[in-house]
Amino acid sequence: MLIAGNWKMNTTLDTARTLANEVVAAVGDPGAVQVAMCPPFVSLDAVFNTLRGSSVKLGAQNMHDVDGGAYTGEIAASMLRSVGCDYVILGHSERRQYFGETDAGVNRKVQQALKHGLIPIVCVGEVLDERRAGKEQAVVKTQVEKALQDVTLANAAQLVIAYEPVWAIGTGETATPEQAQEMHAFIRSLLTAQYGAMAADIHILYGGSMKPGNAADLLSQTDVDGGLIGGASLKAPDFAAIVTAGQNAVAGA
Ligand code: 13P
Repeated sequence: MLIAGNWKMNTTLDTARTLANEVVAAVGDPGAVQVAMCPPFVSLDAVFNTLRGSSVKLGAQNMHDVDGGAYTGEIAASMLRSVGCDYVILGHSERRQYFGETDAGVNRKVQQALKHGLIPIVCVGEVLDERRAGKEQAVVKTQVEKALQDVTLANAAQLVIAYEPVWAIGTGETATPEQAQEMHAFIRSLLTAQYGAMAADIHILYGGSMKPGNAADLLSQTDVDGGLIGGASLKAPDFAAIVTAGQNAVAGA
C-alpha cells in the first residue's frame, strides 16, 4: 500500500515546509503503508529536510529524459536524487494535456528514472469521451504498453502505476470502487503479460478526487494498492485520514 500526495503547482517555500511538517506529525508511524509527498521542485530540498527521520518519502512531479546539458528550464534525474527524491511522477494527464507529453516521451522518462534509481509513478487514464465510447481499456492499454516499452525491472518495487481517470481529477467525481477495480485488474493483467508473477507486487494507485470519505471503499479493492492524492494532499488531516484508510485496508485484507 502506497499513499502519495501530488501537490501540483501549489505552495511556496514557506507553506511547503509547514505542510510537510503537518503531514509528518499527522501521519505518525504509517506502519505497513508507504507514504510519499511530491512538492514543487523549488521546495524539494526544504521538504526533504523536514522529512528526515520520518518514514515519509519524497517525490518530484516531472523530470527531463536526458542526463544534463543545454536544456534551459529542465530538471534531470540526478538533480532529483541529489535532493532526496525516491519517486518521480511521470506522464500525469495535466502534463499530457497542457505540455504536450506523449507516450514515447513518457517511455524515455521511465527509462531515465530507472537508470538513476528513481521509482517512476507512471500515470495513465482515459478522458470522459473515451469512457463514454467504451474505449477506456483500449486507451489505458496503449498508454501502459507504450510507457513500459523495453522497460525491464529487477523487482516490483521499481515501478508504480497510477490509474487516474481524467474525468475524476479535481472534479469531485470519483470512479466507483467497481470501476476502479475493473481497470486496476486490467492494468494488472497488462503488467503480468510483461513482467510475469512480479506484477502481483507492483503498486497500482488510484487517483482522481480520492478523499477521506471515499478512500476506504477504493483502497479495499483487491487491485487498488494505494492512492495518488491531489487536492486532499494539501490538507494534512485529510491526507492522514487517507493513510489511515490505507492502514485499515491492509489490516482487513
Ligand atoms: P485530485 O485528487 O485533486 O482529483 O487530483 C488527482 C491527481 O491528479 C493526482 O495526481
